[in-house]
Amino acid sequence: MANNMKYFIGNWKMFGVPKSITILNKINKFVKNDRKFNKKYKIIITPPDTLIESYSKYFSNQAISIGAQNCYYKNNFGPNTGSISSLMIKSVGAQYIIVGHSDNRLEGDTDIMLKSKVENSLHNKLKIIFCIGENKEDKKKNKTFKVLKKQIENVLEKKFNYKDIIIAYEPIWSIGTGKIPEAEDLLKTTIFIKKILKNIFKKSNSPPVLYGGSVDGDNVSQFKSLNEIDGFLVGGASKSEKKFIDIIKNYYR
Ligand code: 13P
Repeated sequence: MANNMKYFIGNWKMFGVPKSITILNKINKFVKNDRKFNKKYKIIITPPDTLIESYSKYFSNQAISIGAQNCYYKNNFGPNTGSISSLMIKSVGAQYIIVGHSDNRLEGDTDIMLKSKVENSLHNKLKIIFCIGENKEDKKKNKTFKVLKKQIENVLEKKFNYKDIIIAYEPIWSIGTGKIPEAEDLLKTTIFIKKILKNIFKKSNSPPVLYGGSVDGDNVSQFKSLNEIDGFLVGGASKSEKKFIDIIKNYYR
């Protein structure tokens, strides 16, 4: 079953300085003035940690929520030079956190570390955007479902509140390449992911499952008919107000 809410999440990755707030201002203005935008749509932006505090303050009580992209895997404070914990992120106003992005998995995040990040972040009252996705090789060898199942089952547990979790399916071969999955494959994969999640949480409904990877204003309309997809995690196109607004507009118009 599809969820009622549709999410548009912009992951800025290593992008943004204080004045980049003009991008969010324009997106915020658009959704405030667009009659088609309503409470069924949710916009979350994950800027770099350096901007979380100022952006969270600026957009409190607005249509845009702010999240973080990652955190250190354990403890609230510790002797870990250059690291930031989920407590520190929460303390400056973030409401969400991305965990398990392939960028970070490729840099060494293991399932054990990811489980610890989820536990710590939930403990510190952040909602989780948990990323999963197969690489090109997995896809070629027809191992997509096996890989996704393992990524989910090794990290998520029934004890976590399923209402605080969003899943983003981001095939690695699609990120930043302009390639997107065939609609039929994406639908099958999304349904498969939801089945695993329902089984873990022992619920009749699954947490939201979003799609991420080369989403833009042109291809987003191909996903319109796939009601099972509960929204999008957008990288490159979220750094431009025009491109991000195009995604929102072209999805619901
Ligand atoms: P692109 O939209 O640039 O492909 O990035 C997707 C992504 O990794 C979002 O987290």
